[in-house]
Amino acid sequence: MEKLTIAIDGFSSCGKSTIAKALASELGYNYVDTGAMYRAVTLYCIKQGWILDHNIDKEKLVKYLSKIHIKFKFNSETKLSETYLNDQNVEREIRSMEISDHVSKVSAIKEVRHKLVKLQQEMGKDKGVVMDGRDIGTVVFPDADLKLFMTADIDIRVYRRYDELTSKGEKVTFNEVKENLSKRDFDDTNRKDNPLRKAEDAIVLDNSDLNKQQQLDFVVKIIKDYHLLNPGE
Ligand code: DC
Repeated sequence: MEKLTIAIDGFSSCGKSTIAKALASELGYNYVDTGAMYRAVTLYCIKQGWILDHNIDKEKLVKYLSKIHIKFKFNSETKLSETYLNDQNVEREIRSMEISDHVSKVSAIKEVRHKLVKLQQEMGKDKGVVMDGRDIGTVVFPDADLKLFMTADIDIRVYRRYDELTSKGEKVTFNEVKENLSKRDFDDTNRKDNPLRKAEDAIVLDNSDLNKQQQLDFVVKIIKDYHLLNPGE
């Protein structure tokens, strides 16, 4: 049976990964969280001491980029794929506010994007993949079979992210989260290389008032209505 390449792009914390994981599990596809890859590179920079006072030592990062190896491994207990940086499980560490504060700057570096886009294309080359990020439908897989562009009201996104962080014990305020999300939206949309854009052929999914099941139904209906899995029917 033919398999699809599904690209999901959109703003920070609008639930891309929730729907991408649910869809991948429904279809039996691989899920690739490309944001996790940019977060892992950011963690590497912090550990090396290359980020000081919000400035990144870009020269060092570019020089040692080949030393950074990122992989996903499936955890059979949690049934989730987890991020590994140079063979260390960093799934939890990369979700912190400290990483969120620096990741947009790291992800704006051309050489970093070049490396990660190549890796993402390799990961999805056999299709049967749901990949989420900012440039999947525009740059990584411009010929994806289905492209979704997700968005949601900013305050709803802030609440979701705030809940996620505080439930893990992080001490953050609503306003700090809002500032971080607004700044990342701005940086991601305005950077020079591969900015966040809706691909012309992407379908918009505003999930401000939709629960997970409603979103999944919306996407499954598109796949059926457009006969994406059974062309010609
Ligand atoms: O999806 P996320 O919030 O975990 O992504 C973290 C950051 O990585 C986000 O602010 C922008 C960047 N990113 C990107 O530039 N391109 C992607 N394909 C995915 C994420």
